[in-house]
Amino acid sequence: MDLSGKAAVVTGSGRGLGLAYARALAAAGAAVVVNDVDAAAADEAVRQITAAGGSAVAEVVPVGSTEAANALVARAVDSFGRLDVMVANAGVLRDKVLWKMTDEDFDTVVEVHLRGTFTCVRAAVERMRAQGEGGRIVVAGSPAGQRGNFGQTNYAAAKAGIAAMVRTWAMELARAGITANAVIPVAATAMTRSIPAFAPHVEALEQHGTALPGSLRKGEGFGTAEDVAGLVAFLASDASADVTGQCIGIGGDRLALWSHPQEVSVAYADGGWSADAIADAWPVTVGRTPQTFGIPAPRL
Ligand SMILES: NC(=O)c1ccc[n+]([C@@H]2O[C@H](COP(=O)([O-])OP(=O)(O)OC[C@H]3O[C@@H](n4cnc5c(N)ncnc54)[C@H](O)[C@@H]3O)[C@@H](O)[C@H]2O)c1
Repeated sequence: MDLSGKAAVVTGSGRGLGLAYARALAAAGAAVVVNDVDAAAADEAVRQITAAGGSAVAEVVPVGSTEAANALVARAVDSFGRLDVMVANAGVLRDKVLWKMTDEDFDTVVEVHLRGTFTCVRAAVERMRAQGEGGRIVVAGSPAGQRGNFGQTNYAAAKAGIAAMVRTWAMELARAGITANAVIPVAATAMTRSIPAFAPHVEALEQHGTALPGSLRKGEGFGTAEDVAGLVAFLASDASADVTGQCIGIGGDRLALWSHPQEVSVAYADGGWSADAIADAWPVTVGRTPQTFGIPAPRL
């Protein structure tokens, strides 16, 4: 995969998945703006990339605001003369069940994930359209946004919104040759190491280099951050020119395409549906195919 001559921004790339994305893009030849709120992590990421022969600069700013998004795009243009790829990846969790979730828990997660993705992609698209050479938008969805997840009202809402934005952007950006896709990752990072079923395996991987078992890599599609990075490099490349509007799952040994919502059954009533008519018809019409929800528990 050759990304030489391209410039990319990867938000939240001081560690975790973002770091793996930034390293993979740089290894393929792209110049990368590393972004994080953690300055030490961002500097270390730049050090690693440049030590490996890549090109990177750090821009330490919390994504969410328009100002931060503009600063990231400006950094790419000032440092590398252009912007070809925006990877909106930065994220935080504030998990709580609905009745304990505060306004601040909700707003913080929506600010970083949903608004941060919106503002960063908007700023990137302004630049890409002005350049007139197309571009690549890669954003971070989640199984929680596709399915819902216990304790994640804020996060599931933000991630579902990101998937909805991708479907919209694929329509709006096609004429400019800009693709927009969501990666739906599963990987061992700070965000997931506390999941009880995965925790002992992640600990063994981190402390002893013990490879994750096949039951995780294939069965659960759970692997390392590096396992996800190849998809981001592909989506950043010319090879994915006809891939847009997709939500693509990846983790461990698995690569998957997520379906998009569509009607699964339809019923008609002449003159429309009263509440009583719906109650009568429900069990024998659309109610025969209720949809499942939630991320299935790991089968370990
Ligand atoms: N790890 C998984 O299995 C998984 C699954 C689904 C989705 N995701 C998504 O992938 C993305 C990366 O997750 P991760 O697992 O690498 O998490 P992580 O916590 O390991 O890394 C996230 C990084 O983002 C940075 N960050 C947080 N707020 C920021 C802000 N406002 N501006 C800039 N940087 C900020 C953090 O400092 C951190 O370095 C997130 O959007 C996450 O929701 C991860």
